[in-house]
Amino acid sequence: MKMSVIGCGYLGAVHAASMAELGHDVVGIDVDAAKIAMLSRGEAPFFEPGLPEILTSSIATGRLRFSTDMADAQGSQVHFIAVGTPQRKGEQAADLTYVNAAIDGLIPFLSDGDLVAGKSTVPVGTAARLAEKISAGSGALLAWNPEFLREGFAVQDTIAPDRLVYGIPSGDAGSHAKALLDEVYATALSKDTPLVVTDYATAELVKVSANAFLATKISFINAMAEIAEVTGADVTQLADAIGFDARIGRKFLNAGVGFGGGCLPKDIRAFTARAEELGRGESVAFLKEVDAINLRQRDRVVQLVVDALGGNVYQKKVAVLGLAFKPNSDDIRDSPALDVAVRLHGLGADVTSTDPEATVPARRLHPQLSLTEDTMEALEGADVVVVVTEWKEFRELDPVAVAAVARGAIVIDGRNCLDAAAWRDAGWTYRGLGRP
Ligand code: UGA
Repeated sequence: MKMSVIGCGYLGAVHAASMAELGHDVVGIDVDAAKIAMLSRGEAPFFEPGLPEILTSSIATGRLRFSTDMADAQGSQVHFIAVGTPQRKGEQAADLTYVNAAIDGLIPFLSDGDLVAGKSTVPVGTAARLAEKISAGSGALLAWNPEFLREGFAVQDTIAPDRLVYGIPSGDAGSHAKALLDEVYATALSKDTPLVVTDYATAELVKVSANAFLATKISFINAMAEIAEVTGADVTQLADAIGFDARIGRKFLNAGVGFGGGCLPKDIRAFTARAEELGRGESVAFLKEVDAINLRQRDRVVQLVVDALGGNVYQKKVAVLGLAFKPNSDDIRDSPALDVAVRLHGLGADVTSTDPEATVPARRLHPQLSLTEDTMEALEGADVVVVVTEWKEFRELDPVAVAAVARGAIVIDGRNCLDAAAWRDAGWTYRGLGRP
């Protein structure tokens, strides 16, 4: 099937390459010429496991190409909108500038019967508005087809999603849209992937409510960590015990420095702003508390470092392990790890941060930070070690080897990911979040 993907960021680049990998004929379009040049060479503009491999193989077959020219979307039957919807500057709401520009730019190249499939995360009500715009300017249709991929597993999540959601109009138009989407996702559907066919508003809400639920789960366990801390309880054991209840589940119950990234933080804020616009602010007012609990964890980790150093971090050497918002990603958008490093630096500490993938973007954003890709170099002479992204290589550090290069013997486990007993046995003072 011939398709275009408008927007080649984390979502669009992975979607374009994965669709080509599934056998479709895909053109990825983006206004960023440098990004398009990289993608055309088969290079991923960001770190995502498996993406370079499918980019190279699909480009070689001729099924995948990239362009900066919207006219290249002409001739495709399905056009995916995968541009970003960041938080509006100085506000909580989502910025729809890129979505609107993508639709306006695409309309002149749409043919009768084409399907525009929205993937970007948008405030509920956006699809209905865009559908009117599209039908006024062309004979094409709109579907809302949210994406649930996780960074670090993006290729796998796109090729074999855990569910598919189609928000489509009613009647013949809807049947046509569904038939086209069924062809797009034929491989996943043949493997009995659950499919929910619904209206625009439900499809838009499925996406934001899923992320709101995940954010709430994380803040719930972080709130329990706060209670555990004043009672001497252990939040990791608590999470294990409640997680055995199948209705609750253990996933997304890891207490720590909290959630970040390009999705969860801005999505819960945009959802709150949209609910307030709709006169239903009270329905999701709890998301403000979810946000506040989350942000408090960063303060908590910084405070643990300050306390560990006797109340003053000035000129003390702090090794910060992690910059990315989560492992297997180089994404530093709203990263709690990066935030902790920046704050400690701001307090006058001599911070050296390390991350297997995220030092390059971190340097661009915060040139004042001292960064290295060499974990042992970061640990050299450290008075305190702080783990804020649970990369495998940090989880598996040998506490004896670290003790040999560090000056102090205090480790702050901001992700509750280390073997506390092993570190203590090696002579370290171990502090986790919500752990005795
Ligand atoms: C999230 C959702 O999980 C995806 O389903 C969704 O498609 C995506 O947003 C999106 O909207 O595009 P992602 O941002 O890649 O995916 O990251 P997550 O794996 O959800 O992690 C988010 C944050 O929560 C990370 O900072 C992670 O460290 C943190 N986290 C996660 C915790 O602090 N504790 C946990 O138990 C789990």
